[in-house]
Amino acid sequence: MNLPAKRVAVLISGRGSNLQNLIDAQDLSYRIVLAISNVEGAGGLDKAQAAGIATTVIPHSGKTREAFDDELDAALRAAHADIVVLAGFMRILSDGFVRGWEGRLINIHPSLLPAYRGTRVHERVIAAKESVSGVSVHFVVPELDAGPVIAQASVLVHPSDTPASLADRVLEVEHKLYPEALKLLAAEKVKLEKGLAVFSG
Ligand code: GRF
Repeated sequence: MNLPAKRVAVLISGRGSNLQNLIDAQDLSYRIVLAISNVEGAGGLDKAQAAGIATTVIPHSGKTREAFDDELDAALRAAHADIVVLAGFMRILSDGFVRGWEGRLINIHPSLLPAYRGTRVHERVIAAKESVSGVSVHFVVPELDAGPVIAQASVLVHPSDTPASLADRVLEVEHKLYPEALKLLAAEKVKLEKGLAVFSG
């Protein structure tokens, strides 16, 4: 069965290396149609423009979370997005927004969830002297970094690692894992059902 390519919007706040990687990995299952940043001048915007992808900046300052999320939602619907991908998007989304995109909204987090939700992950992993960390791609649910996992990969933590060196190694794995997970969702091989990531052939 040949499904039409899913229309994907990517939300960013920064340099956009995952966005670039998802652009490079596009196949018949998905097409990136829009990149949205809440930060003007985010490096990822230039990357999207260089690839001929439409970009929008929606600043968040001076707005309530709900007002910001309504603007975001309107931009995504105007672009007829099927799937919304968070890639270094540093805003917490309201419950209403998340529910509206349930099953079609995914995030990448640089830890082996449910371990190390939230920010400053690599600092905390090193401080706890962990020997293994990793990457998780998950469906987004209202609770932060708590959604069902679609794909995970481990990364060894070296005794000499700094947060920066660990982040670099984890990022390489993010770049492998995110397109794979997005392709599973775009090809309808994984779905969010009854709060679980359910896989089919
Ligand atoms: C990545 O490490 C991602 O896991 C985290 O933010 C970083 C974004 O990097 N959520 P980039 O903007 O994709 O380069």
